[in-house]
Amino acid sequence: MQRRNLLKSIAAAGIGGLITPREQKAQTAVEKAIRGLPAPKIKDVQVIETAPAGVRLTVVKIVTDQDGLFGYGCATFTQRADLVKPAVERYLKPLLLNHPVDRIEDTWQMCYDSSYWKNGPVLNNAISGVDQALWDIKGKMARMPVYDLVGGKCREAADVYRHASGSEIQQCVDMAKQFKEQGIRHVRVQVGTPGYEGYGAGGRGGAMVKGLRDTGAVFEPAPYIRRALKLFEECRKQLGEEIELLHDVHERVTPSQAVQFAKDCEKFKLFFLEDPLSPEDIAYFRLIRQQCSTPIAMGELFNSPHEWLPLMSERLIDYIRIHVSQAGGFTPCRKVAILGELFGVRTAWHGPGDVSPIGHMANVTLDVVSYNFGVQEYSEFNANTREVFHGVPVLEDGYVWPSTKPGWGIEIDEKAAAKFPFQGTPGSGAAPSSNTSNPRSGLNGGWGEVRKRDGQIIKQ
Ligand code: CO
Repeated sequence: MQRRNLLKSIAAAGIGGLITPREQKAQTAVEKAIRGLPAPKIKDVQVIETAPAGVRLTVVKIVTDQDGLFGYGCATFTQRADLVKPAVERYLKPLLLNHPVDRIEDTWQMCYDSSYWKNGPVLNNAISGVDQALWDIKGKMARMPVYDLVGGKCREAADVYRHASGSEIQQCVDMAKQFKEQGIRHVRVQVGTPGYEGYGAGGRGGAMVKGLRDTGAVFEPAPYIRRALKLFEECRKQLGEEIELLHDVHERVTPSQAVQFAKDCEKFKLFFLEDPLSPEDIAYFRLIRQQCSTPIAMGELFNSPHEWLPLMSERLIDYIRIHVSQAGGFTPCRKVAILGELFGVRTAWHGPGDVSPIGHMANVTLDVVSYNFGVQEYSEFNANTREVFHGVPVLEDGYVWPSTKPGWGIEIDEKAAAKFPFQGTPGSGAAPSSNTSNPRSGLNGGWGEVRKRDGQIIKQ
């Protein structure tokens, strides 16, 4: 600024609004920086589908009108994977083309409201893909990882839990011991029930009990509960107190059984008991709360604020563990995390193999910026996944670390992604899974039936 202009502006500002040359210089620099970054516009919205570990992963790629500036977001809904792509391409893309990329909240609300009927998993996942891609772009524009965009870390890295399982109790305990030796401090333990289908056990021991329907998988809640309690007892005997134990019921028992089970778990001091009730039975959480102090985790099936708001605001659960893409992405889940902080509910975002590495990075980002973080579910990335996704979150000494690169810090090799098409998708030309012993092969990613002995189908 010329000295004469400076004097003029000082005179115009009057005595109360005096600015020094140094302040003026700083303001000019900021204005210049802002003017130097016109908000890029959305030029294309693409969908990348890949199954490098056999699980169907869907990622949205938003391309801007600025050369080389694009972003990725997780839109993975494995069990109905083929439906997310058209939801993005036929409904969100026309809405988004030529929109500026910088207004994430506005864009999220626009996508959310445009279907009038909302809060379903297909549409929420489609929105999540867009939402996370915009955060990736914003991070790249600011040259910051997303955790810095939302205020920065309040912890260095996130404590994880791993899955120990086995058809026999000793197998599961041995696996937990191995994790403990690797420095893992939290382990989810699941064991098979002889004769019955289980959840997350990786085997059952013995022939399946014969049910009245000839559909294979038979489950009965009472033997499952008895077996799980024996497992916890053995875990405490062999692993001691210096390890946090978690367990997932997967909503397979009746509400009164859930209350009783939570009470029986109390003496084993679980870190949390997950999904003791189905989303349809959430009113029973109050009974569990009134009768015992077993910490409760819930929420991976939730789609909508109507589901989590009462549980959190009435302090009926201890951990909220939403599947981030299922709820619509980083933007709504950041709000859930903050809500939890106010009500003493900690986070434990859903992090199994059916979350893409982009989604895992969004999880870890929420973990390091949220004061009320609890624990992070973690699943290993295999070699094929690392070939497709460069820069996945890193596990070290039981902690998972977010990337320090701008945005999510992950680049996708799209040629490598194309090498792993969805298996068994009608019309894809790809053969169904060669693993014919898997009763779920041929269901296009969907889950098969599990029934009680009398033939009644169960929630799983
Ligand atoms: Co679960």
